[in-house]
Amino acid sequence: MIRFKISWLFPVSLALLFIGLMIYTKQPGKHDYTSEEADCWTGAGINQAPVDSAGMLIRYGHSLISNTAFYLGPKGTVAHISNGMNCQNCHLEAGTKPWGNNYGGVASTYPKFRARSGTIETIEKRINDCFERSLNGAALPSDSREMKAIMAYMQWLGNEVPKGTKPKGSGIAQLTRLSRAANPAKGKMVYTMYCERCHGSNGEGQADPNTSGYAYPPLWGAHSYNDGAGLYRISLLAGYVKNNMPSPLNYHQTQLSDENAWDVAAFINSQPRPSKDKTKDWPDISKKPFDHPFGPYADGLSESQHKYGPW
Ligand code: HEC
Ligand code: HEC
Repeated sequence: MIRFKISWLFPVSLALLFIGLMIYTKQPGKHDYTSEEADCWTGAGINQAPVDSAGMLIRYGHSLISNTAFYLGPKGTVAHISNGMNCQNCHLEAGTKPWGNNYGGVASTYPKFRARSGTIETIEKRINDCFERSLNGAALPSDSREMKAIMAYMQWLGNEVPKGTKPKGSGIAQLTRLSRAANPAKGKMVYTMYCERCHGSNGEGQADPNTSGYAYPPLWGAHSYNDGAGLYRISLLAGYVKNNMPSPLNYHQTQLSDENAWDVAAFINSQPRPSKDKTKDWPDISKKPFDHPFGPYADGLSESQHKYGPW
C-alpha cells in the first residue's frame, strides 16, 4: 500500500513543480528579451492602452503611425509635411511586428549617440529623421501635440523593455552577405516575379481608395523615400524584404532566398528617387556603415562597391 503511494506521489509532485515553474517564468516583468533562446519581442496591441487621458494621447500616437497620410500627408488634416506614406508601411503593425522594423528598442535605447549626425539623439530627433528622409518631408515641432502623441505611443510600447537593451526581433535583421556584388539586373527579374503585381511596374505603388494612404506603397519615384533614408542602404532594404515581403509574410514564413533579397534591393535602390542634402551626415567618415552609398570613405573603396558589395 505504502509503496503504491510513493510511486504515485513522485510523478505528481514533479508535474506540480513543473507547472509552478512555467507560471513563474510567464509572470509579467519576467520576460527574457535578449538571450539566444529568447522569443522575439512583440509589442502590445493598442486596445491594451489605458483608457484615461494618457491613454488618449497614446491612441492618437498609434493613429499617427498607422495613418500618417490622413493627418500629415499631402492632403493631411493637420499639416502637409510628408509624402503620403504611413510610418506603418515600413514599421509594420504600428511598429510591433518581429523583424518588421519594430520599435521594441526605441524607449529603452534613446537618447543615444548616432554616427550619422555625430550627436546624441533624442527619440524626437530620430522620429524627425524618418519624417525628413523616409517620408521625404519636414520635421514635426517638438512641442506639437502630434510629436507628443508619437512619443507617448513609443514610450508606452517599450515600457517593459529593460533600459539599455534592444530586444530580439526589433529593427531589421541583417542577412549573410553575398560573396559577389548584388546585381540590379537579376533583381529586376525577382521584382517582376514577386513584387510588381502590388507595387507596380514603375514601383509607383497603388493608392487606397478608402483611405488617404496607399494600398501598396511606392518603392521608388517622386513619392518614395529619399536617398538619405535608412532603406536606401541595401542591407536594410534586403533584410526588411526577406522577412516581410511579399506581404504579409513574416520571419517564420519567408519566400525569397537571401540572394534574391539582396538582388531585388539592389534593383530598387538603383531606380530614381528624391535626393536629400546629405552634406552634414557622417561627420566622421570612418563611421559610415559598410553599405553607405555616398563617399568620401576612409577605406578608399568606390561608391559602387560600398553600395552593391562585395563587402
Ligand atoms: C520608407 C520606410 C520608412 C518609413 C515610412 C518610416 N521609417 Fe522609421 N525607420 C526606417 C528605417 C529603415 C529605420 C532604421 C532601421 C535600422 O537601422 O535598423 C527606421 C528607424 C526609425 C526609428 C529608430 C528605431 C530604432 O530602433 O533605433 C524610429 C523611432 C522611427 N524610424 C520612427 C518613424 C516614424 C515616427 C515614422 C513616420 C513618421 C517612420 N519612422 C517612417 C524606415 C522607415
Ligand atoms: C501582395 C502585395 C505585395 C507584394 C506582392 C509585395 N508587397 Fe511590399 N508591401 C505591400 C504592402 C501592403 C506594404 C505596406 C505594409 C503596411 O502598410 O502594413 C508593403 C511595403 C513594402 C515596403 C516598405 C514600404 C515602401 O514602400 O518602401 C517595401 C520596401 C516593400 N514592400 C518591398 C517589396 C518587395 C521587394 C517585394 C517583392 C519581393 C514586395 N514588396 C512584394 C504589399 C506587397
